[in-house]
Amino acid sequence: MTSQKRDRSDALSREARTLTPGGVHSNVRLAGPPVFFDRGEGAWLYDVDGNDYLDYLLGQGPNFLGHAPAKVNDVVAREMRRGSVFGAQHALENRAGELFLDTVRWPERVRFGMTGTESDQAALRLARAATGRGKFVRFEGTYHGWLDNVLASTEDGVTSPASAGQLPHHLDDTYFLPYNDAASLEATLAAHDDIAAVILEPVMCNSGVIPPRPDYLARVRELCDQHAVVLIFDEVITGFRLALGGAAERFGVTPDLAVYGKAMAGGWPVSALAGKAALMDLFADGVVHAGTFNSSVPACAAVIATLTTLREEPPYEQVEKHGSALMDQIRELAHTYALDLRVQGLPAAFHVSFGPQEPVHDHSGLAGLDLERYQRLARTLVDHGMWVAPRGIWYVSTAHGEHELDVATSRLDAALAAETT
Ligand SMILES: Cc1ncc(COP(=O)(O)O)c(C=O)c1O
Repeated sequence: MTSQKRDRSDALSREARTLTPGGVHSNVRLAGPPVFFDRGEGAWLYDVDGNDYLDYLLGQGPNFLGHAPAKVNDVVAREMRRGSVFGAQHALENRAGELFLDTVRWPERVRFGMTGTESDQAALRLARAATGRGKFVRFEGTYHGWLDNVLASTEDGVTSPASAGQLPHHLDDTYFLPYNDAASLEATLAAHDDIAAVILEPVMCNSGVIPPRPDYLARVRELCDQHAVVLIFDEVITGFRLALGGAAERFGVTPDLAVYGKAMAGGWPVSALAGKAALMDLFADGVVHAGTFNSSVPACAAVIATLTTLREEPPYEQVEKHGSALMDQIRELAHTYALDLRVQGLPAAFHVSFGPQEPVHDHSGLAGLDLERYQRLARTLVDHGMWVAPRGIWYVSTAHGEHELDVATSRLDAALAAETT
């Protein structure tokens, strides 16, 4: 496949633009090509014109078990016959909570939500309530949701609101620091006694999939302890994807609170905030966290089925194997076509862009990469049946096997050949 016909997608896209701004229901999708999908199955997507795509976007991460996983969806369909939300408790919540805590291991309590954005807000509120302090530290290039107090972009070392309609003072409660730089965190915590929390993506997946330097997370933990500051891991991407216990398990560092989403529910909209009882129980003692749809029957059924699947057949070795082989293939093809394509990250999630091969350690390092050129390549890849994000992050699912690796290699080859002729 070199150039797909997308007449029906184009027509639906024209219609969508009369119904919703930009024809999309999330601004993140404005950057992607206007493809309308009919269905997904395993590692594959099928659009309304009959084109197939090998999916390395996974719906921005949730489809870690592949699309429409029967082991999850069958359980959800069965349980949903009993109803959806009751404005009260139901027994599946306890089973989902128990399984969640037993799987992640370090937390003692969990609160389910719908999105990472809102669970991040709950974490920050809880940290403020617990410490009686108002501000928090975060890192240039991380993403903690689209709300006013966390949506930010950093250019040339200056961080400002990323959306029209945000006010500059919305970010006044935040100290922005470079990721992977323990010295700047040490200095900031020493200089200010108004800091409630340090929140970070333990692997900075939203900016170039930048892993922590050895011992960085342990040092962050140490500094938070020294200053009685709450350490929050935003594991919305890393949770259940790097290990059953997420980045905390993978890097052996335990936060005070952590936020989960995406991979935890087989494609269903569920998030979680988890932590030690002493902190979390404040939600029953003056700190408000709410949501009409929290812990619905389908959400709990999806969590139970997903975590049971991950526990019974831990897929981490297989995902890493596929991811590593794919990263190698991209490097090899880049060499064949003499392109300065570069790949960085973990096998389960990695980043592709153009630029020097040296590893990038923080957000400022991305300035040396040609991300726009990659956006153009992403379009070409889509035209060749590879569904990838324009921003360069690739996700691997448990449904990506040897056949998918072969297809990915030949489609990448064709796309790069088209790119270089
Ligand atoms: C690290 C991180 N935190 C929070 C969020 C927000 O999650 P959601 O889109 O479910 O609101 C995201 C979304 O991509 C994320 O990557």
